[in-house]
Amino acid sequence: MKMKKEVNLFTEFNIKKITLKNRVVLPPMVRFSLVGKDGYVTDKLVDWYEKIALGGVGMIILEACCVAKDGKLRENQIGIWDDSFIEGLTKIAKVCKKNKTPVLIQLHHAGFKEKIATVSEKKLDEIMEEFVDSFHRAKKCGFDGIEIHGAHTYLISQLHSKLWNKRTDKYGDRLYFTRELIKRTKNLFNDNFILGMRIGGNEPTLEDGIYIAKEIEKSGIDLIHVSSGTPDPSFKQDKKIDMPMDFPLDWVVYLGVEIKKHVDIPVIAVRSIKKEGEASYLIENNMVDLVAVGRAMISRPHWISWAKKKYIFRKNTGGKFL
Ligand SMILES: Cc1cc2nc3c(=O)[nH]c(=O)nc-3n(C[C@H](O)[C@H](O)[C@H](O)COP(=O)(O)O)c2cc1C
Repeated sequence: MKMKKEVNLFTEFNIKKITLKNRVVLPPMVRFSLVGKDGYVTDKLVDWYEKIALGGVGMIILEACCVAKDGKLRENQIGIWDDSFIEGLTKIAKVCKKNKTPVLIQLHHAGFKEKIATVSEKKLDEIMEEFVDSFHRAKKCGFDGIEIHGAHTYLISQLHSKLWNKRTDKYGDRLYFTRELIKRTKNLFNDNFILGMRIGGNEPTLEDGIYIAKEIEKSGIDLIHVSSGTPDPSFKQDKKIDMPMDFPLDWVVYLGVEIKKHVDIPVIAVRSIKKEGEASYLIENNMVDLVAVGRAMISRPHWISWAKKKYIFRKNTGGKFL
């Protein structure tokens, strides 16, 4: 009988031909204080990513980089809307790869104040072009892949949302924009250049999140990162979804764990995973493939070696995960 190999937080993981040295990912986090108003990469920002790579994380997802000048979240967000951004972004890809850390770049459009209902079809066609052009630039920079930002009520999350997307044109098919973008950029991807997508696992319900995950898997996405979407305002609970009382971690992590049951591609869970035991609980029980550790990694860039010590202690003493 073939034995199933046991995995832990420090077991390698492959996505196509890209090898992650462990199961921990740095999620995208805009570092506004390290970026100028012009949106160009600074030396301080490169140093920060180098520090994280040296800390031994399995994969880095570079913060949301904006595909259009009028799609920024804030003035000092990194841009990728023209070729002049390539030089700075290339430096980040290089320092990560020098330290054998695969790195994806997150591509983002914040959307507009008036929300998705009033954006013209022509404008959405233009944004699609801007995404496609930015995909090409991202590849030139030397990243190992791209993560589309489809969560947190930004443009693509609004399109995916049953609550917000009441359009009657082609974009009224909630997945049209995403499917079309994947179709139009398929030729860029291969075993060494992967496509991930961050989705809202509640758009507004978990069933909607599962639907989105299955659809994007069919379209050819290699990796799903489950975060939060647009919650239903009529839902009064703090947690924004119905979750079993005994689930011991954050409700957004729960969305990732549930979505994992419905797809065959790797899934990353995120939100308030701070301790080794929390991360190991998810990995050793095969609940997800990868865990993202964000704020805890900012305060402790050497989170991995700290977690390893905790892991060894826990194993030696028979301690519990949580
Ligand atoms: C300072 C900061 C910046 C963030 N920037 C982004 C971003 O650029 N793109 C994104 O998808 N999420 C962003 N997030 C959300 C994080 O990726 C992550 O989902 C969130 O912090 C929860 O994980 P944590 O509890 O491990 O920090 C940001 C969060 C923080 C705290």
